[in-house]
Amino acid sequence: MQRRHFVGTLFAAPAVLKGAKRSFSYAEVERMLVTGEVRGRLTKDEIASPALLLDMDAFEANVAKMAAHCKQQQRALRPHGKTHKCPDIAKAMIRAGAVGACGAKLGEAEVFAANGVSGLLVTTAVIGKHKIERAIDLARKQPDTIFSVDNAQNVNDLDEAAGAARIRLNLAIDLFVSNRTGIIPGEPALALAQHIDRKKHLRLHGIQAYAGGASHVTGFEARQRRSLADMTPAVETRRLIEKNGISCPWLSGGSTGTYNIDSEIDGITELQPGSFIFMDIDYNRIGGKSGPVYQDFQNSLTVLTTVVSKPNDRQAVVDGGLKAFSTDKPFPPVAKDIEGMIYHWGGDEHGRLDVSNASREVKIGDRIEFMVPHCDPSVNLYDRIYRVRGDQVEGVWRIAARGVSQ
Ligand SMILES: Cc1ncc(COP(=O)(O)O)c(C=O)c1O
Repeated sequence: MQRRHFVGTLFAAPAVLKGAKRSFSYAEVERMLVTGEVRGRLTKDEIASPALLLDMDAFEANVAKMAAHCKQQQRALRPHGKTHKCPDIAKAMIRAGAVGACGAKLGEAEVFAANGVSGLLVTTAVIGKHKIERAIDLARKQPDTIFSVDNAQNVNDLDEAAGAARIRLNLAIDLFVSNRTGIIPGEPALALAQHIDRKKHLRLHGIQAYAGGASHVTGFEARQRRSLADMTPAVETRRLIEKNGISCPWLSGGSTGTYNIDSEIDGITELQPGSFIFMDIDYNRIGGKSGPVYQDFQNSLTVLTTVVSKPNDRQAVVDGGLKAFSTDKPFPPVAKDIEGMIYHWGGDEHGRLDVSNASREVKIGDRIEFMVPHCDPSVNLYDRIYRVRGDQVEGVWRIAARGVSQ
């Protein structure tokens, strides 16, 4: 049977009363999601829980705001894909003006490349024989990919592999500006730039400097001080390299918490924030320019759960537990639309809700959406993200790099 005919048969609507809501079986819903013929037909009520939801109005507003900010500040935007791990999201941001996407690990970048995303920056160094083989393959597929390095041995290894493959690799010097990887700014970084400059099969693209220690500093002014302190050595290192006759036109850094701080620093040419597209409770808590809640971007990401038990008037149980939310923060998920209700971890599969002071009654079968403590590791728990607008489901995007961290 031809596919179109098959789908047509499946969806030949049974007689329904005019105006009555058509209800679909689980199998029909899944089929609709696979074929993409969803718009206007499915509501959130029909999604199996727990499920990861993306409020498209909020997501699009977040992307538009960051893209407009970067454009106005004349900085490139290369959002970090570690947050979403989803090629469709990377492509949506490129359509909105981003120059590409970052991958934290080679594996994320490979998945993005395989799904047609270009302009890739791999922000973690590629160390070891197999990883270097894969980097060469990736560079063959997407020659504009930039790889991060922070030591001379790795430079030698990459040059040798690129030479054997008869290609040229683009490198970014990863600078130690906060508390993670990278070479020390100043003279050590200059020496590494000179080392790269002498290699036949490598090209220095510029500097990669992520100040992770600044991104979540509480209070805008304290965050500003920290980011300035962290990023100034990166800007100075870029100048030092150029003063020594090596082209270093590019400096990428920044985060959701510091986007409007780093874009004021002369010499940073590109921002690589990630969480702004979704937001999470962790980011809400850092405080913004105008108050104690950081609200520059909207919370577009939620986990949809269902109330599956109500042992007594004070307690209810939802079907989302340790496997449904990130658990790396010392605070639990927060319900999106119910005030006064407290979520307690209830093991792998469940959340226990204290509903004593909930702003509305909670009954078995109710659907409750929760904002996540931390977006990146929460997204990494799901294969798909449901795109919703109001109550309507528009479709799903595959989190194709979910679980990929090699
Ligand atoms: C190298 C790098 N750049 C950018 C980001 C994005 O930061 P955020 O999600 O806080 O915007 C991260 C996040 O961990 C990162 O590791």
